[in-house]
Amino acid sequence: MTASGAHIEFRGVQKRYGAMTAVEHFDAVIEPGSFVTLLGSSGSGKTTLLNMLAGFIEPTAGDILLDGRSIVSLAPEARNIGMVFQNYSLFPHMSVAQNVAFPLAMRRVPKSESERMVADALAAVQLSALGKRMPRELSGGQQQRVAVARAISFGPRVLLMDEPLGALDLKLREALQFEIKRIQRSTGSTVVYVTHDQSEAMSMSDEIIILRDGKLVQRGSPKDVYDQPANAFVATFVGQSNTAAARRDGKVLSVPDWGLEIASEAGQDGQPCAAVALRPEKIRLATPDQPVAQAEASAAAIIENVQMFGNNLMVHLRLRSGKLLLAQQFRTAASDKDELFVIGAAVHARFHPEDLHLLND
Ligand SMILES: Nc1ncnc2c1ncn2[C@@H]1O[C@H](COP(=O)(O)OP(=O)(O)O)[C@@H](O)[C@H]1O
Ligand SMILES: [Mg+2]
Repeated sequence: MTASGAHIEFRGVQKRYGAMTAVEHFDAVIEPGSFVTLLGSSGSGKTTLLNMLAGFIEPTAGDILLDGRSIVSLAPEARNIGMVFQNYSLFPHMSVAQNVAFPLAMRRVPKSESERMVADALAAVQLSALGKRMPRELSGGQQQRVAVARAISFGPRVLLMDEPLGALDLKLREALQFEIKRIQRSTGSTVVYVTHDQSEAMSMSDEIIILRDGKLVQRGSPKDVYDQPANAFVATFVGQSNTAAARRDGKVLSVPDWGLEIASEAGQDGQPCAAVALRPEKIRLATPDQPVAQAEASAAAIIENVQMFGNNLMVHLRLRSGKLLLAQQFRTAASDKDELFVIGAAVHARFHPEDLHLLND
């Protein structure tokens, strides 16, 4: 199971099905040993990209390189890539150990060596004791761990995972996210992970590639895509954001939906501004009589709903324009008693203009 990650490069990769383009001119370099996630909603082209890398689908155009060598004409088993699929794909008539040994048998690894590699892979997913079980005798989480063991048993330099935890409940998903990260660190392999779950992408990845309709929308670290969303789609897809149309006139940024005209230096250097985005956690609620801190923007609103999320609250605010604004507030002993969070209360939503993201679409 000793592996070190491969360098992956997509060059102008495209996949068409008749008139339908599933992946459009995709370029990306993935560094050895990194954990990169393809994030997008259903139909955005994630599985198609992964299957082209694995060799199950041939690109219509473009090239895919592993360590600088084109692999598009290589059969899947010649690519040294391990893959975990969303649906439990274990062979039902084989034991756990036989499943994990399967890729080794395909590669004609001698039996004694294969036994050692199977034992290592099962140890990595903490299932050493269950080698003799049949898949039907395992829970869903255990089955997916066996699928991971099978994908890493032959020491692949690239590990692909297509929504591997999609069918599991939240607690188990979080535990397995942690295990997958641990396995990746110990094997050093390059991981390309697919999910439609932005929180999973945020918590696991070194880098996230956001796809929409077969096109790359933004690429960056979890922090980058959260703090600097490229457009309104990313701002609302990764975490929550309030978005509104905006217009700049000299030093004033007008946001009509929020009834605000904000003196702001940001984006004056010719940067187009068609919209703004504001994270709910950047909004502070105040009673109307509290003085506005210097440089804060302030909009009057009525509390329409309060959602409880354990240690924080999501407050739904109705602005005078009729538009909704979401404000996340931490719960404190004071806020539990506070009349500020009562439905129907008149409040002011306040924020610092530098927390606005200016968007050009
Ligand atoms: N074999 C196929 N024939 C025709 N269209 C396909 C085929 N496979 C995928 N597609 C289409 O390509 C697009 C991307 O699919 P896919 O890569 O599976 O998306 P994702 O994994 O992000 O949900 C979708 O619109 C899908 O319907
Ligand atoms: Mg898919």
